[in-house]
Amino acid sequence: MLPISTYGLSRQPGGALPQGLRRLQPCSILWTMTEATDVVDTRDMVWVHNALRGEFERLRSELSAFAGSDPAAWSRYLTHWTLMYDFLVEHHTGEDDLLWPVLNQRLPEQHDIITTMQTEHHTLHQLLEDVNAQVRQLDEARDGGTGDLDLLAGDCDEMFAVMLTELRKHLDDEEERLLPLVPGVLTQEEWAALPAEAAEILGERNSMLVLGYILKWMPEDERAIMLGKVPPPVAAGWAETGSGMFADYDAGLSLSSA
Ligand SMILES: [Fe+2]
Repeated sequence: MLPISTYGLSRQPGGALPQGLRRLQPCSILWTMTEATDVVDTRDMVWVHNALRGEFERLRSELSAFAGSDPAAWSRYLTHWTLMYDFLVEHHTGEDDLLWPVLNQRLPEQHDIITTMQTEHHTLHQLLEDVNAQVRQLDEARDGGTGDLDLLAGDCDEMFAVMLTELRKHLDDEEERLLPLVPGVLTQEEWAALPAEAAEILGERNSMLVLGYILKWMPEDERAIMLGKVPPPVAAGWAETGSGMFADYDAGLSLSSA
């Protein structure tokens, strides 16, 4: 795990991370790309959302195939479920800690929109926990050789459908109503605190995997921009070993089309 201090940063909820980011040496050229303008470019949030949409939909569509598969394949599915669960929780934790307090302070007239985002987070996480509990129940049933796996997988699929509907609704709302408020209100440094916190929460290996999924679901010709927005050690790790590790990991996650 790479603690945030690895990057010379200290997290200040609702505040900036100005000095530490500028002291960073690795990949400083890429990092400088994001500081070329004073107006925050929020496209990276949309790319993150697209990875969440794509991978949770994939997890739903692959569930029944993996539920009836061998233990090694099911273990890969569980690992990916846990990764995406952690990714979504981390993403919303970052927004709760670093975005809403600043926006509430600087845009009091937009309080209703921010409150809506917070309410949607709460609703979505309850639904995420429902799916998580059902996935864990499926795991126990497989382990113990008990229960009707098809029935459990079917129940899980229904919960997944409800959760995905809420996920899409929330991400769409955030992109349409919240993100347009950010440019000119948050500084580059405040915006950059989001991926820095993500790297801290997810740890080194999972940061690489999450970066891999963001790159997978985004336009190919804009990937260099995304690599310039992640903490420099993450970008460096991706270039050295992360991309290969991601390719191996991802290769084991499609059964239904195999
Ligand atoms: Fe978001």
